[in-house]
Amino acid sequence: MDSSAIWTEKYRPQRFSEVKGQKEIVNRIQALVKKNNLPHLLLAGPPGVGKTTLALVIVKELYGENWRDNFLELNASDERGIDVIRQKVKDFARTKALGDVPFKIIYLDESDALTREAQQALRRTMENYTTTCRFILSCNYSSKILEPIQSRCTVFRFKPLSKEEIQEIIGIIAKNESLTIDSEAKEALYYVSAGDVRKLENIMQSAAAITTNITKKHIFDISSFAEPLEIREIIQRCIDHDFPGAKKKLVDIMINQGLSGLDVVRQLQKEAWNSNTKDLSKLEMVKECGEAEFRMIEGSDEFIQLESLLAKFVLINKE
Ligand SMILES: Nc1ncnc2c1ncn2[C@@H]1O[C@H](COP(=O)(O)OP(=O)(O)OP(=O)(O)O)[C@@H](O)[C@H]1O
Ligand SMILES: [Mg+2]
Repeated sequence: MDSSAIWTEKYRPQRFSEVKGQKEIVNRIQALVKKNNLPHLLLAGPPGVGKTTLALVIVKELYGENWRDNFLELNASDERGIDVIRQKVKDFARTKALGDVPFKIIYLDESDALTREAQQALRRTMENYTTTCRFILSCNYSSKILEPIQSRCTVFRFKPLSKEEIQEIIGIIAKNESLTIDSEAKEALYYVSAGDVRKLENIMQSAAAITTNITKKHIFDISSFAEPLEIREIIQRCIDHDFPGAKKKLVDIMINQGLSGLDVVRQLQKEAWNSNTKDLSKLEMVKECGEAEFRMIEGSDEFIQLESLLAKFVLINKE
């Protein structure tokens, strides 16, 4: 394999046995594929956890070498409207599948990006071609998919990978790329990836471009995350009613690491919950983070919002 390859492609599982986590989903789909009998599928779940990967494994298992002839991949948000999709599906479905499998597969990525009207049209398209084609839809939020489409599909819900599964992938890549990654750095990789393998592999590849000896500092610098300890320190200063100290620490972190206000507020929210104060105060702090995040997204000045948030943290902990 080309050494300059993007790691998310280089390490994309090619077989069911290589997919980490999602065990129950993999087992059930494997059984369906063995019988050459695939219903329409809806693969739902957060980014980077194996939805597209599994769709590709399915077609490779079903069709072997000729998989490309029997597989059409469409991106719902790229393809500008259902008309393009319908035409492409029509052209593709006109010819019969090659080989023993009686149907072809159409993969529609980001199907939750389709409007209601487009989904209605998709539903009819699915029905029209159901003898010659199976649809695999993927989405981040199954609640955005119309009920009649959901009821035509077998729905599989993907989860972020567990710490153990992420550690296993880190181990495989580290060995293959001859990287040394200490245990703190491995913890940091799990923390910043939060179970998203694409994110994990991209951060690892960026870190490996700097050094073969990866530490947690590399990980936090690359990933727009402050070290959790530093965020906890800001919160602790608020709990101790040291507003100037908290503010100074905040500015240090943001300037030294080039973090955005949104990066920081998301981490504050996560760490507020683990802080050393009354449960009621934790709830109040989490609530205020939501408010600050909303205002920043609406365009409010991030320093003003963050300082106001820290001031609220102090006040909450005075009560
Ligand atoms: N369960 C997994 N086991 C091993 N590697 C994985 C797994 N999930 C994802 N990966 C790695 O992450 C990359 C991206 O995964 P994939 O394309 O399957 O994400 P996705 O779930 O389709 O995300 P999105 O919702 O953003 O489309 C893969 O190429 C692969 O390298
Ligand atoms: Mg995908």
